[in-house]
Amino acid sequence: MMLVVTTARKPNKDKEKEAREIAAANCLPYIPRENKSLDSLLNDFGAALVVSDRRLSCFTPAGELFYHPNMAAMRIRLLRQGKADKMLEICGLSAGDSFLDCTAGLCSDSLVSKYRVGEKGRVLSLEQSLPIYIVMGHGLKNSGPPRFQELARGIELVHADFRSYLQKLPPRSFDVVYFDPMFDVPVMEASSLLPLRPLACVQPLTREDIALAARVAKRKVVVKQRSFFVFSRLGLTEAGGNNRKISYGVLEIKENESDS
Ligand SMILES: C[S@@+](CC[C@H](N)C(=O)[O-])C[C@H]1O[C@@H](n2cnc3c(N)ncnc32)[C@H](O)[C@@H]1O
Repeated sequence: MMLVVTTARKPNKDKEKEAREIAAANCLPYIPRENKSLDSLLNDFGAALVVSDRRLSCFTPAGELFYHPNMAAMRIRLLRQGKADKMLEICGLSAGDSFLDCTAGLCSDSLVSKYRVGEKGRVLSLEQSLPIYIVMGHGLKNSGPPRFQELARGIELVHADFRSYLQKLPPRSFDVVYFDPMFDVPVMEASSLLPLRPLACVQPLTREDIALAARVAKRKVVVKQRSFFVFSRLGLTEAGGNNRKISYGVLEIKENESDS
């Protein structure tokens, strides 16, 4: 699959300039759209970032990936009504905390965490896939409903593999380090992840990854997985889930643990 950048048909000068800039900034080829159909672009290249009046999307044969805070919006609405959010509960996040999201994806968990930690807290999110990083980075800065923009702009999204990034961070530099890797067996109803899947990085988590995270976390490492996942394989304790399909595994960091 080759990733290219183009515009919607009949772009104005600004959108064409924006597409050229995205291509140049990420060392990707810019393809003038002219009259090409999306199908022919996908036949030729496999994946296309398309700048349109509405948004920046990445198209593959699996569909259109674009930033939309819908899932986060629903969870934040429930939080405002005083309902609990399982992921926040298990992470034990509160105002002012720092949260490292090692697997940003659609950034729903990052948005919900930013809502909880607030202005004084920090959410740093890592995404290894270049097209997902470009689409989400652009969306967090420029689109989504106005009531979410401040929250979205408060997330620091970085294009990085958590495996190398964790090694560069100082010990105990984030209260909670979180992973939500791609599941081997996807939850079929999670249709919002369908267009993400062919673009996502899918290497499974290992004990070495948990050790890297445990050095950086002050309080906890948390991993989201399918409910049948054997968390002890990663040295984690199962902490329950929000439904029969999803579960969380936790490693509590003890205060006197060595920082080396
Ligand atoms: C299931 S999605 C995460 C969904 C996210 N929690 C949300 O709320 O939208 C997993 C994401 O992690 C990314 N990923 C996988 N391995 C990674 C790595 N080593 N470093 C950074 N990101 C990675 C994938 O590309 C994918 O976008």
